[in-house]
Amino acid sequence: MSHDWRVSNRVEQIQKSAIHEMTRLSKEVEDVAFLSWAKPTSGTPEHINEAAISAVKSGLVGGYSQNSGLLELREEIVRKLKRDNNIDADISQILVTVGAIEGLSAAVMALIDPGDEIILPSPTYSTHIRQVIIASGKPVLVPLIEEEGFILDIDGIKNAITPKTRAIMYCSPSNPTGTVFDEKQLRQLAKIALENKLMIITDEAYEYFVFDNQKHFSIASIPEMKNNVVSCYTFTKTYAMTGWRIGYLHAEEKLILQITKAHIPFAICAPVISQYAALAALKGSQDCVKKFREHYLLTRNLMCERLDRLNSIFEYQKPGGSYLMFPQILLEAGKDSTTFCKQLLKEAKVSTTPGIAFGFTGEGHLRLSFCVSEEEIAKAFDRMDIYFKNL
Ligand SMILES: Cc1ncc(COP(=O)(O)O)c(C=O)c1O
Repeated sequence: MSHDWRVSNRVEQIQKSAIHEMTRLSKEVEDVAFLSWAKPTSGTPEHINEAAISAVKSGLVGGYSQNSGLLELREEIVRKLKRDNNIDADISQILVTVGAIEGLSAAVMALIDPGDEIILPSPTYSTHIRQVIIASGKPVLVPLIEEEGFILDIDGIKNAITPKTRAIMYCSPSNPTGTVFDEKQLRQLAKIALENKLMIITDEAYEYFVFDNQKHFSIASIPEMKNNVVSCYTFTKTYAMTGWRIGYLHAEEKLILQITKAHIPFAICAPVISQYAALAALKGSQDCVKKFREHYLLTRNLMCERLDRLNSIFEYQKPGGSYLMFPQILLEAGKDSTTFCKQLLKEAKVSTTPGIAFGFTGEGHLRLSFCVSEEEIAKAFDRMDIYFKNL
């Protein structure tokens, strides 16, 4: 049927999400072993649910909150940033957002004009690429150094800077590679930002899921960077609160006022019920976070052991954080990761995400999530063992 609307160039450029496509295809497969989503499979801890219910019953959630979020929540966030991120913040520097995603989008909207460039060390979370495109910016993908554990290519980033570059945007721990960028590299990145008058936009969604001897470092903890960073955080992963849609960002006060101007047309404020749930999450026991981390360490180790047995098919960098990993496919057929993953789903009933979803630098890889049960990993790898043996 004909129609009179014309889609904007901004939206036209956005490619269909390979993650959603794999989810859709996976639904057609009975008893699928599902390693496609970066979504915690555990439920939200009970004390958080209870706090939300109690806020509803007390009549606290029917109206909007301040655009920047409930004062008590922002006060608690300030304490958390000091305690866990070594960031000295003030409540005027906090904006509560609809998940990290809305915060990141608002920050990008506030910081770039059409045609401006944002450097994305990549492979990276595909939504970041889309956030730049929807703001009519140009994502500039600079490959991570895979052989050294998907670390930042500091020289590559320097060389990618042009007069149009406005910011560098990264997630650490990383989706999809599981890398935790170390303090030394992040200090080098900070230096580049200061020398070139660039902003750094961070996505620290997986900040608490760090293993072995790795340490999560927040670049905003460097005092000289106080006017050059927007740091984005979320409750989604830390407290298994995907559906609550609640996160926050930190930046200097004047910039927060500008980002809030971008936040209002999309959200007015973050869902108030979720703000009360988030308050309970921060104020309550943190044992649940420890439990999730211990589980992901266990499932990471299990996934690595199982991948070791398939070492003629996959080569991987052991993830130091998040609950994701990004093996390279050694087979010729893996050069087209979309076809490879679709075939794996159809023939072996294992759902994964094609690496191309995370930028061209991700081609030839697939993303595996270990935020699932040990049984799910065993099921997926038992099937892959048979499938690849019979190839
Ligand atoms: C790196 C990263 N950032 C942000 C998100 C989503 O965060 P939120 O639910 O807080 O919007 C995800 C979800 O997969 C993610 O992997």
